Amino acid sequence: MPTPHINSNKNDFSDIVLMPGDPLRAKYIAENYLNNSNQINNVRLMLAYTGFYKNKKVSVMSHGIGIPSAALYIRELIVEYNVKHIIRIGTCGAVRNDIKLRDIVISMGACTDSKFNRIKFNNHDFAAIGNFNMIRSAVDAAKNINIEVHVGNFFTTDSFYNNDQKMLKILNQYNILGVDMETAGIYGVTSELNAEALSICTVSDHLINKDKLSSKDRESSFHDMMHIALETALTIK
Ligand code: HPA
Repeated sequence: MPTPHINSNKNDFSDIVLMPGDPLRAKYIAENYLNNSNQINNVRLMLAYTGFYKNKKVSVMSHGIGIPSAALYIRELIVEYNVKHIIRIGTCGAVRNDIKLRDIVISMGACTDSKFNRIKFNNHDFAAIGNFNMIRSAVDAAKNINIEVHVGNFFTTDSFYNNDQKMLKILNQYNILGVDMETAGIYGVTSELNAEALSICTVSDHLINKDKLSSKDRESSFHDMMHIALETALTIK
């Protein structure tokens, strides 16, 4: 059944959806990592596809930028399309010297400056955590294919362009491994709706030394992250 933002048919989606932020990334994944993929959404050009990875049915759909966008699409996927597992495959900023550009970070949970989860959680602090089995599968998959990952806490912000030096110090002190704009909301909405989520990011910006990934460098680390995400999808029953 179409929703205001997704015009797919009822059974078009797998119950596992990989979600990059960028619609063209979703297209690239469908074309380069999935077999027999079909485009199943074009509303607002928030492209979605379903195909197969090693015979496992997997969908890929962009979630856009920020919690409001990601949470809206994920809610519609869960409620109207029976999606049960979300794997975000994104980029993040880093605030520690031992985390470098191109590193892959798996989010166990995410703090946030967004009010989104509080709006839902009676104005209390919700501990936004990922699904343990999916996190464990991703860590195991990375080990099996010899890719190093960092695993720990994220900070999800509503403000990409923020030069708050005091906050950067606090994030560093509290051992935040990645700064993104979606994970806390994704973990919030999947918890609310009894679905499961995992967020994996490659480090694209270093917020302390101001390094940024070139587009060529983005490709190789992206491939490693995709490999982990797809192998994790295979473990889902
Ligand atoms: N901040 C927030 N989100 C991000 C960043 C960042 O520096 N890099 C990639 N996503």
